[in-house]
Amino acid sequence: MLEVIDLEVRYGSIAAVKGIRFSVAPGALATLLGANGAGKSSTLLAIAGALPVAKGKILFDGVDVTGKKPEQMVQAGLAMVPETRDVFPDLTVDENLRLGAYTRLRDKSGVASDRERLFALFPRLQERKEQAAGTLSGGEQQMLVIARAMMARPKVLLLDEPSLGLAPVVVDQLFAMIAELKALGTTILLVEQNATKALQVADSAFVLRQGKIATEGRASDIAARQDLNALYLGGGM
Ligand SMILES: Nc1ncnc2c1ncn2[C@@H]1O[C@H](COP(=O)(O)OP(=O)(O)OP(=O)(O)O)[C@@H](O)[C@H]1O
Ligand SMILES: [Mg+2]
Repeated sequence: MLEVIDLEVRYGSIAAVKGIRFSVAPGALATLLGANGAGKSSTLLAIAGALPVAKGKILFDGVDVTGKKPEQMVQAGLAMVPETRDVFPDLTVDENLRLGAYTRLRDKSGVASDRERLFALFPRLQERKEQAAGTLSGGEQQMLVIARAMMARPKVLLLDEPSLGLAPVVVDQLFAMIAELKALGTTILLVEQNATKALQVADSAFVLRQGKIATEGRASDIAARQDLNALYLGGGM
């Protein structure tokens, strides 16, 4: 579904991602782990078309999408929840959700049924659907940006550290929802610092270190490694 081939991402003369290769099968959940500055967000942004690809290729559903613009990637079926997780603060929860479907507004019945489905999945959002999004708690805002991304009916969902800053009980709920999105058939690439949680929901894992893939494998195998923390936290960034 998603294939990243020898991807290199640069900020000026500095290479943040130094030729990485990985793929995510249709309906699978892959997690990209690594320390601060390892190149995780840069990888997601390049896939989403928000950063230029210095070298290498990105294939989406078998099609070469290298160099496409973010809006073209959205049209192709990609949705990304960036680290910044911005809601439209003055709009209600419901209005935020509807905006997520802007690429398919003509599909009125589809949009309505997706909205119902997402409210069933995120009951806290349903209870607060008329509330201004800016007044939601951090965890609720995080649920809203994920639900809004799902309103585009993406084939592939990129999540950048969705659990960051959330209380443990909310983190548990969030991961339960990510597992449900996977069960609905969405292909997911999940960037996380919470490796333990990410490896519980993922099929496969890639550990980035200093812009390169240091380790990869089945999530259960990576989770079983005693040296997991040292794998990516060791040796600095
Ligand atoms: N706009 C930028 N200009 C210059 N360098 C950047 C820029 N954005 C990121 N970098 C550098 O690229 C490298 C990778 O950053 P990136 O944000 O991809 O890391 P990350 O793995 O997402 O880290 P974190 O876990 O802290 O979010 C870092 O060394 C960072 O300083
Ligand atoms: Mg990041």
